[in-house]
Amino acid sequence: MSAAPAPSAGPVEDGGVPAPKHVAIIMDGNGRWAKARGLARTEGHKAGVEAARRAVEAARDLGLQYLTLYSFSTENWRRPAGEVRDLMGLLRQFIVDDLPKLKREGCKVVIIGDRDNLSMDLKALVHRAESETRDNASFVLQIAFNYGGRDEIVRAARAAAKTAASGALKPEDITEKTFETFLDTKDCPDPDLVIRTSGEKRISNYLLWQAAYAEYVFLDVLWPDFSKEVFAGAIEEYYRRERRYGGVGGN
Ligand code: IPE
Ligand code: IPE
Ligand code: MG
Repeated sequence: MSAAPAPSAGPVEDGGVPAPKHVAIIMDGNGRWAKARGLARTEGHKAGVEAARRAVEAARDLGLQYLTLYSFSTENWRRPAGEVRDLMGLLRQFIVDDLPKLKREGCKVVIIGDRDNLSMDLKALVHRAESETRDNASFVLQIAFNYGGRDEIVRAARAAAKTAASGALKPEDITEKTFETFLDTKDCPDPDLVIRTSGEKRISNYLLWQAAYAEYVFLDVLWPDFSKEVFAGAIEEYYRRERRYGGVGGN
């Protein structure tokens, strides 16, 4: 679902920028955090899961409605097999440990990305997390896992083409709006703000369609050191931006 491209309804704070509803984060820097401490990379990823838990709590405290966390990219398969296994294991553990609390707190969990290459048990867990939280409405946590923006767009194009070939959709009716219904994020508004930690200034195939008009904040902090204060600082930076959506803005 696309957010209307013009800032309109919603609380207007600090110079007219509407409050962000959806923040998407590229959680980067686990390996460097571990290396700086003489630890194995896997320890960095474990600390990264703790930081992700803090981020979910902070997002709710800061009044957001949607949070999307980039946990594993379609390119992360290039890492050593042991690290890939660890990252799969951490998602598994996160769902097992945190699902009861997320359910209790009214959080809807959505996993975006290609599931085809995930193991059977992980597929089942992902399905469980989604189906058991489907009706929750107070907050949405999207986890981007085996996710790549290009891959998502190709899968959506394939699904749209299939629907068109079946006769259920005319090619001329494929608009931005109808196309978006084939994306993994179909029920979620576009992110207002994308944060990347670790000092890298690139988007690494994240939400290529959805972040077309997002603001970007790049932070030097390594992901395991992410805190509510750091999160609040990034949102303050967002409020200092002027979103123009191609127009001329306020001056
Ligand atoms: C982010 O930390 C976690 C994932 C990409 C899964 P990294 O593992 O990329 O950490 P660095 O970039 O090597 O420090
Ligand atoms: C992006 O981080 C992917 C995730 C955070 C899951 P990477 O560490 O994989 O990105 P690059 O390789 O530095 O671009
Ligand atoms: Mg990295």
